[in-house]
Amino acid sequence: MQELCQGYLIRIPQCAFLLGMSDKTPDLHAAYALDSPKDHKRLYAEWAGDYDEGFATREDYQLHIHTARAFVGAGGQGPVLDVGAGTGLCGAVLARLGVGPIDATDISAEMLDQAMRKDIYRDAIEADLNEGIPVPRESYSGIVSSGSFTHGHLGPEALTALLRVARPGAQFALSINAQHYEKLGFAEALHRLAQGQIRNLTLPEVRIYGDLASGPNKGDTALIALFERA
Ligand SMILES: C[S@@+](CC[C@H](N)C(=O)[O-])C[C@H]1O[C@@H](n2cnc3c(N)ncnc32)[C@H](O)[C@@H]1O
Repeated sequence: MQELCQGYLIRIPQCAFLLGMSDKTPDLHAAYALDSPKDHKRLYAEWAGDYDEGFATREDYQLHIHTARAFVGAGGQGPVLDVGAGTGLCGAVLARLGVGPIDATDISAEMLDQAMRKDIYRDAIEADLNEGIPVPRESYSGIVSSGSFTHGHLGPEALTALLRVARPGAQFALSINAQHYEKLGFAEALHRLAQGQIRNLTLPEVRIYGDLASGPNKGDTALIALFERA
């Protein structure tokens, strides 16, 4: 891991072998049932190596593509922070669309390790979003997030940490699972922020999976919260 991370600002204190491993292959069902930051670290440590092929390709996952395109369509520019970057699927689309530089942040060191292998991110920042992001305020002109505001994952309280690191005028594109949006009160949280902290909010709805998906969640949708920091 050290060799791979040379030249990047990377803060990854723990090693995979220190984390408890289980025999069960991680999947979306298990991810949706997660509860604590410790659970996230354990599940994603196990899932990191198989996530792109075993989940994203097999389930025809499309949300990262919709999110990156929506960001660019709204005029988003770098430097960008990819929040809950995982293995870097959203960052890879952004890079193909000509956006950069891109930093990745995630609670899972193993997911960030996979992301850095794609050779598209400038820095990897290991952080629990609920505790804040260890970078100076107003560091980014764009904030994207795909698939991390969903069941068992991040709620509206994480928006505070994202606004802190965004410059005035920064473009946001945050995908939020549509059921999670309703259940956790994102509408109220965004409405409160629209009183002075954000502007130009739109919420296009997209399908999370493509036509080749076969799992029980194949029809699920997400809202992409597009807005600017005031
Ligand atoms: C479903 S994956 C999405 C990854 C990627 N953005 C994508 O679209 O494929 C959710 C990611 O959120 C991260 N995550 C979950 N809870 C987090 C937290 N509290 N802080 C930071 N990242 C978190 C997980 O480690 C995981 O990489």
